[in-house]
Amino acid sequence: MNKKIRVAVIFGGQSSEHEVSRVSAESVIRNINKDKFDVVMVGITKDGNWLNYNGPVDKLGSGEWEKLALTTRATAVENKLLGEDSSKNKLVEGASARSIFKAAGMDNDGQKIDIVFPVLHGANGEDGTIQGLFELAGIPYVGAGVLASAVGMDKAFTKIIFEKEGIPQGKYLVFNRKNIKSSLDEVINKVESVLPYPCFVKPSNAGSSVGVGKAHDRRELIETLFEAAKHDRKVLVEEFINGREVECAVLGNDDPIASTVGEVIPCNEFYDYKAKYIDNNSKVIIPADLPESTIAEIREYAVRAFKSLDCAGLSRIDFFVLKETGKVYINEINTLPGFTSISMYPKLWEASGIPYSELIEKLLDLAVERYNDKISE
Ligand SMILES: Nc1ncnc2c1ncn2[C@@H]1O[C@H](COP(=O)(O)OP(=O)(O)O)[C@@H](O)[C@H]1O
Ligand SMILES: [Mg+2]
Repeated sequence: MNKKIRVAVIFGGQSSEHEVSRVSAESVIRNINKDKFDVVMVGITKDGNWLNYNGPVDKLGSGEWEKLALTTRATAVENKLLGEDSSKNKLVEGASARSIFKAAGMDNDGQKIDIVFPVLHGANGEDGTIQGLFELAGIPYVGAGVLASAVGMDKAFTKIIFEKEGIPQGKYLVFNRKNIKSSLDEVINKVESVLPYPCFVKPSNAGSSVGVGKAHDRRELIETLFEAAKHDRKVLVEEFINGREVECAVLGNDDPIASTVGEVIPCNEFYDYKAKYIDNNSKVIIPADLPESTIAEIREYAVRAFKSLDCAGLSRIDFFVLKETGKVYINEINTLPGFTSISMYPKLWEASGIPYSELIEKLLDLAVERYNDKISE
């Protein structure tokens, strides 16, 4: 009998998307082919503690896993390796990257982890930092590498790459927190000389619409600038795009393919945090009701965006279709998109002929393929 492949699913994390990540991980673990894969669950608490968890998978989404994990034997082993207070710094300081995974993956027979699936979103999960740890540890992992993850997370940087690639996008300006605090008048003048109201203000590095605001006038511009600056030291001010919001999933490594296109109809004025996770009234339409030619254009831009950042495995690329002209503008790329069974990424693939379990398996295969490809010939 062939040995099963050991997959570490890492979930939680310290970003604002901690909860979504737990729900995504629960779906992934439930749907992974258990005949082929053994799953090791590693949760990162909001305080940055890494905990090995051996309990029931249905306690992930609710968050109950954390208490259970703290009482298990494996955690005690891990704490010995990582230090009782395994805060982020200690983690790296007190143990080599490889031993972190050994600690998390070690059970009685001391088997090693073959592949990591970071089911994490946002800061420290999607931005290249944890990917660096996987590189140091020499373990194949699902998703984009260090560079693509970091560039994909930083909207100001992604825009430079998209511009170079010739993918249409709205006008934008970038300011540092320091500019906003010390030369607010200059910032306002600059914005008002380039963009009309309303405009969108957002942190360059964030997600889930955290810190994103729509400014209808100067007073709101000031308010939203300061709000966005709480979440990142770089702040973007963008032209307001009066468009329908559509998303496309991309899968692959060097020859990626694009799914069909889905539309999100937010229940609020824009797709803010509440519309995404609290009000639950936003609608998703797959496939989006758009002309064939627009769908084809979006899919083509999605693949180009993926390749331009040198992504790997998966990405969801979000666009606007201008209501008046039907013109397509790119909005952003998500290198580790939401992965719950009802999330757009897996839904788009399901509609394109790849069921959820198969999708997971493909991503794991792609992780190994990219790992081997990085090793010089
Ligand atoms: N320039 C813009 N014009 C119109 N709506 C925007 C613009 N930028 C963002 N939005 C709205 O805000 C939401 C969140 O912004 P986005 O850039 O996607 O950030 P996040 O990474 O947090 O999802 C979008 O889904 C959209 O509803
Ligand atoms: Mg978005």
